[in-house]
Amino acid sequence: RKRVRIHHLQDLKDRGEPWPMLTAYDMYTAELFDEAGIPVLLVGDSAANNVYGHETSLPVTVDELLPLVRSVTRAARHSLVVADLPFGSYQVSVEQAVTTAVRFMKEGLAHAVKLEGGRRFAPHIEAIVAAGIPVMAHIGFTPQSEHQLGGYRVQGRDAAADAVRADAAAVQEAGAFAVVLEMVTAEVAKQVTHELRIPTIGIGAGPDCDAQVLVWQDMAGLRRGRAPKFVKRYADLAGVLGGAATAFADEVRNRQFPGPEHSFH
Ligand code: KIV
Ligand code: NA
Repeated sequence: RKRVRIHHLQDLKDRGEPWPMLTAYDMYTAELFDEAGIPVLLVGDSAANNVYGHETSLPVTVDELLPLVRSVTRAARHSLVVADLPFGSYQVSVEQAVTTAVRFMKEGLAHAVKLEGGRRFAPHIEAIVAAGIPVMAHIGFTPQSEHQLGGYRVQGRDAAADAVRADAAAVQEAGAFAVVLEMVTAEVAKQVTHELRIPTIGIGAGPDCDAQVLVWQDMAGLRRGRAPKFVKRYADLAGVLGGAATAFADEVRNRQFPGPEHSFH
């Protein structure tokens, strides 16, 4: 298998074959997901919540994300690696957006970047694409704008459907190679998926998108507590890892570990 390219993702849409995407923030997960045949890995700004322990995605910085991007791109042999541009690193100006995107390509060795925003970010997308950098857009519920949007709320209901459709059309027109639809009604996501030439990637956007993405710690059950409605847990990693740590601790306390086979003489 060769490196996944953006035209391969377009081919999948054209053939009507849905594809998976996962976040990854380090080398072991990148290696495993690559080998599992996940064509696209996203180093999300969700690292804020899932690596750095913040409550929202807003505090994470370019300097915090860059090393994570580099570890994922070094480990992923086939997957296309997308670097998420964090809050504040592209909203200031079109020039700032290009400068930040270039850093993720040069220093992070990413294959593409992602940013949040629809119509108002069309100029930013266009300029980054003009610099030779593929852009994945992200519309619907955009976590970096959660305070403006009034919290985690489904987008595209009733009259707001046209706003989501207009955002989708604008990012495609600006040159985005794909677009994430987050927490958009299944009906609107289906319509947008039919209207766009480029692939739509759903998270909480129903079954009719061209692709589906989840945060890996949600997908694998490492994050505990109540998960959003759109999450499906495919494993209980929290149970497995917690169990391993407890067993190790018990064996140390009982002098069962290390055994003779783990010792040098
Ligand atoms: O940061 C992230 O993990 C994302 C995906 C959920 C699309 O933006
Ligand atoms: Na993100």
